[in-house]
Amino acid sequence: MSQSTNITWHDHAVTKKDRREKNKHHSYVLWFTGLSGSGKSTVANAVAKKLFDDQTNSYVLDGDNIRFGINKDLGFSDEDRKENIRRIGEVSKLFVDSGHVVLTAFISPFREDRDRVRALLEENEFIEVYIKCSIEACEARDPKGLYEKARKGIIKDFTGISSPYEEPLHPEIVVDTEKYSIDECVEQIVQYLKEKEYYI
Ligand code: PPS
Repeated sequence: MSQSTNITWHDHAVTKKDRREKNKHHSYVLWFTGLSGSGKSTVANAVAKKLFDDQTNSYVLDGDNIRFGINKDLGFSDEDRKENIRRIGEVSKLFVDSGHVVLTAFISPFREDRDRVRALLEENEFIEVYIKCSIEACEARDPKGLYEKARKGIIKDFTGISSPYEEPLHPEIVVDTEKYSIDECVEQIVQYLKEKEYYI
């Protein structure tokens, strides 16, 4: 990939602060991470619905959908996953700048890549949510039949089977979808947002 040269950064006439004031809420990233089938998209969408109903401008970016469009050129090698997360991080930053709450639901298996996104944002703009669920439970759910294909070797580099997943060491929130219902997990996240005064 070649790099851009002769480019100049333009400041916006309408700032992030202006947009937040108009929206009457903070803008930030809720970064969901976890194994395939752990419930990232389900929980992220349920939180987004709650935020939407409570007048918060939010948007969900999710692994399958983004890979149909902006990241359709990427596969599942370590390098491609890294680039996937790098691009999502940059897109998320634009959403935050536009005054939105962005909920991202990507496996994002590597700590270093997640931390790099955190570093792109300000301290109160990135909330890591670990969607905790054992590989056994994810495999038993197997909603898309992908674990079965991975076990048979039909899918290579499958997270948790033939490609690593690095659990977050210090996530802001951990929700356990094996122990708790989706509604309970959503409530736990909303409670956190209220306690930390993200939720207005
Ligand atoms: S990553 O690791 O963050 O770049 O992955 P992500 O962009 O979230 O994409 C994960 C979804 O792609 C499907 N899929 C795979 N997942 C993991 N490993 C392999 N090899 C793979 N091949 C396809 C799968 O549907 C994932 O969706 P979720 O929602 O996580 O189950």
